[in-house]
Amino acid sequence: SSDKIDSRGALIVLEGLDRCGKTSQCGRLHSYLEELGHAVELWRFPDRNTGVGQMISSYLANKSHLDDHAIHLLFSANRWEKRSLMESKLRSGTTLIIDRYSFSGVAFSSAKGLDVEWCKAPEAGLLAPDLVVYLGISPEKAAERGGYGGERYEKLEFQKKVVESYKTLCDDATWKILDATLPMEDVEKQLRQIVMDCVLTCRKGKPFSELWQ
Ligand code: TMP
Repeated sequence: SSDKIDSRGALIVLEGLDRCGKTSQCGRLHSYLEELGHAVELWRFPDRNTGVGQMISSYLANKSHLDDHAIHLLFSANRWEKRSLMESKLRSGTTLIIDRYSFSGVAFSSAKGLDVEWCKAPEAGLLAPDLVVYLGISPEKAAERGGYGGERYEKLEFQKKVVESYKTLCDDATWKILDATLPMEDVEKQLRQIVMDCVLTCRKGKPFSELWQ
């Protein structure tokens, strides 16, 4: 189900380990595009503001316990509940910058030992990003940055597994890998360039596509 439309927004996803600098870069990118006069919104997953998002938040804070499959499906449901809004925003010309998406879903759950194909299945049919930027950093370096907030997944041993899972997902042309250990301003510059290319391509009417179908 893909169709060509004029002047749509771009779906841009940033991915990476906890403490890779993703959230700061998303914020800077958002301000930059806004200053240039683009229609742009900054989203994040999990979106903790919905009912499902609150269940996820309580799980991440270790305030509730859920079966690994169950929490995986909640993360996925949290994306599905935003799918139609996402599509209408993009169609109306708004670019979306998203802090984590289905790739986090698959990388984190499969790092627990769940089957990768099983993890991908509920994500199929969500909108595919036009660009995925992976902010690469070793788990050791990320841990040195401090500020692991004590949420469920913020542990070095687990992050080492997550990095391996991400590696199996990034063999796609829509992925761009940046060195997240460079000074923040350098990462920001590289990011801007990649993103502007993508925004222009989408504006020219690049068709939508869907994940993993
Ligand atoms: P955050 O710190 O970016 O809010 O993400 C919370 C944690 O949830 C982070 O450790 C990554 C993890 N996560 C998943 O396990 N599955 C998902 O689908 C998403 C979006 C995040």
